[in-house]
Amino acid sequence: MRYGYFDDDRREYVITRPDTPLPWINYLGCEAYFGIISNTAGGYSFYRDARLRRISRYRYNNAPFDFGGRYIYLRDQDTGEFWSPTWQPTRRTLEEYTCSHGLGYTIIGSRYSCIAAEVRYFIPLGENLEIWQLSLKNEHGHPTRLAVFSSIEFCLWDAWDDATNFQRNFSTGQVEVQDGVIYHKTEYRERRNHFAYFACSEKLAGFDTQRDVFLGPYRGWDSPAAVERGRCFDSIAYGWAPIGCHQVDVTLQPKESREIIFLLGYHENPSDEKFDPPDSQAINRKTVLPVIRKYLAAPNANAAFEELKDYWSTLLSTFQVRTPSADADRMVNIWNAYQCMVTFNMSRSASFYESGIGRGMGFRDSSQDLLGFVHMIPERARERIIDLAATQLPTGGAFHQYQPLTKRGNNDVGSGFNDDPLWLILGTAAYLKESGDWSILEEKLPYENEPGTETPLYEHLQRSLRYTLERLGPHGLPLIGRADWNDCLNLNCFSDTPGQSFQTTTNKDGKTAESVFIAGLFVMAARELAVIAQKGRLGEEAGQYLAAAAKMEATLLQHGWDGNWFLRAYDDYGQKIGSASCEEGRIFIEPQGFCIMAGIGLENGDALKALAAVKEHLATPHGIILQQPAYSRYYLHLGEISSYPPGYKENAGIFCHTNPWIMIAEAMAGHGDDAFDYYLRINPSAREPISEIHRCEPYVYAQMIAGRDAATHGEAKNSWLTGTAAWNYAAITQWILGIRPEYDGLRIDPVIPAAWGGFRVTRRFRGNTYVIEVKNPASLNRGVKKLLVDGGEIPGNLLPAAEPGGAVIHVEAALE
Ligand code: GLC
Ligand code: GLC
Repeated sequence: MRYGYFDDDRREYVITRPDTPLPWINYLGCEAYFGIISNTAGGYSFYRDARLRRISRYRYNNAPFDFGGRYIYLRDQDTGEFWSPTWQPTRRTLEEYTCSHGLGYTIIGSRYSCIAAEVRYFIPLGENLEIWQLSLKNEHGHPTRLAVFSSIEFCLWDAWDDATNFQRNFSTGQVEVQDGVIYHKTEYRERRNHFAYFACSEKLAGFDTQRDVFLGPYRGWDSPAAVERGRCFDSIAYGWAPIGCHQVDVTLQPKESREIIFLLGYHENPSDEKFDPPDSQAINRKTVLPVIRKYLAAPNANAAFEELKDYWSTLLSTFQVRTPSADADRMVNIWNAYQCMVTFNMSRSASFYESGIGRGMGFRDSSQDLLGFVHMIPERARERIIDLAATQLPTGGAFHQYQPLTKRGNNDVGSGFNDDPLWLILGTAAYLKESGDWSILEEKLPYENEPGTETPLYEHLQRSLRYTLERLGPHGLPLIGRADWNDCLNLNCFSDTPGQSFQTTTNKDGKTAESVFIAGLFVMAARELAVIAQKGRLGEEAGQYLAAAAKMEATLLQHGWDGNWFLRAYDDYGQKIGSASCEEGRIFIEPQGFCIMAGIGLENGDALKALAAVKEHLATPHGIILQQPAYSRYYLHLGEISSYPPGYKENAGIFCHTNPWIMIAEAMAGHGDDAFDYYLRINPSAREPISEIHRCEPYVYAQMIAGRDAATHGEAKNSWLTGTAAWNYAAITQWILGIRPEYDGLRIDPVIPAAWGGFRVTRRFRGNTYVIEVKNPASLNRGVKKLLVDGGEIPGNLLPAAEPGGAVIHVEAALE
């Protein structure tokens, strides 16, 4: 069953009924001011940091699930009837409803009692504000008098404090209302130099800023007292819960349309110019008024919207493909790329499943997010690498997370996830391959943000490798520390106290538990750094890294191979995890994917055995399960993984992030049909027809799909913020379509389904555009042996990087 449809030409997903199985959300903003918006206008906004600069308030885990947002009410002043054009919060049955989620904007349109209404929400590029553009049309045969109410509930900035410290916060709220603009200025009188504002293009008939006056005692957002009676109270908030509400009265003649613009924004003043007059407590509005005036004018708002669309057209044009699969095309060309931008911006901080206060930017998460983003805006990827590296510890270890506003490592979560530092090498390698900008390796960056400790980025990467080598266990495999990629495999934790966090509780400084996964990751990272060293003319070091990789590979084949697949780990007792000899958790997906991606077992046949085992034990129609059999009870020595009921999350869920590793491994083995088959199983667009089972948005990947052991097998959860986005993008574009940036150029090495007659890709790469036509006349899976470049033949399948010149280069390739 579907709840809408893809409009590929407009690059929108159009939802046609408001009661989707879960809120289907979108993101606004791509630079500094961001918003989350659901298909019924729920959600919130923030500036840079979803915890420290929350602009509007949102209550998680609510009933209904999604409640609180950018709501508008319309009231027919003659009949007294009122409704919301976005369905929530009144939930009156609308005669028509559509929500079009586009790239950086959402348009919700509806019809109720002959009034057509549409709200367009977006954030102009380069600005710290959001525009709500409301248009109304009277389809009655008679004039209609409407009252329009806007509404937003302000957050008192720090979202965590806002949700916990009521004894203080009920007394701090402050607003100012000047010339129809509502300013939220809590704590501006003291140490803050920022405020929020909510403005309206029309003359106001009234306003409210105190929530409980607007709503009335014992009433909720579904029937505010002011809306019910048709008139605001002009309340000024002192403490309690400051809100913004404008009332605009409009009379519409038959067939007449009207547009009203609302702006919600964030503004900072220089600390010594906060007040005007200077000795007053009134906000200095001089710096913000020009911005407000600009965007309250419809032509400027419209121009900003067009600019946003052009921006996305340009970004997406970096990689466009036409294949025989509509599901692949729309994900690659539109939605997967878009999700990669969102994961790049948010890491795992703010979604409808991430509260924006728990987790900032993850070290391993953000390093991996680069893989799907770097080709769109390499300069921003460069900045991210620098931010990440600057939080690295002198030991080469890493803070597991950092806060986006301060860019400082998060002490509460700390470090000791022994895989973390290695991901930085892979992220940096991806940047080098895309951009050819070797200067980044010379950037002098501190450790732990401590001035005076700077070394070149290259040394940060060296220390990452050393960190692993200095922490080897009894078999010579890397010690796991708190956890590796699988945050929930906590082999040194032994937590028996309810409520303890598996991630942060004091761990044993274990010297026994080893990770085969980290071993595979190390082999990959060490070989990558060896190439970097070679190309950076540091030949001797390259030799050391290759030797270290070879040694780890040998160790892995000796102690990390179970006979039919790769082992997962050794626990604190030195016993195997992920072995045929285990009762539960006999085979895990992560080492199969990562070891093969590192090239291990491709020559001796182990890789093929491991892939066959994955197919036999882990593959389901809904995707590939993380491990089998599921843990049926809690195991003290395994930790959080066994805390989940079977089939969910890391305990035998389909943890989508890992699926593309198998797709890539299958592609490396030359299995184009299997690689693409796995690709389609979790492709959100391909799952659209089963939306009632999948339940999450059909246009973006979710972190997890419930596994075979779950009661709700096939149900997706935790949409949007997941490494699945970047890795799937890499799997399909670089390994299945095979258009792969390398240090010296663009590799054309497709591994596709035999039934495909070919495909066509346009790829911008280092300043030129390649139009690549791949033909598959003999129905093969792989085998490009030569290329025709602008008509001339070159041997092999590497397009050497050309001088950047804005050229359009035509390339033909055939599988043979
Ligand atoms: C979550 C985390 C990620 C981790 C994964 C597996 O997605 O953000 O860092 O690798 O879970 O535990
Ligand atoms: C929880 C989640 C896991 C996530 C981790 C991040 O353990 O289950 O998926 O990676 O938190 O801290």
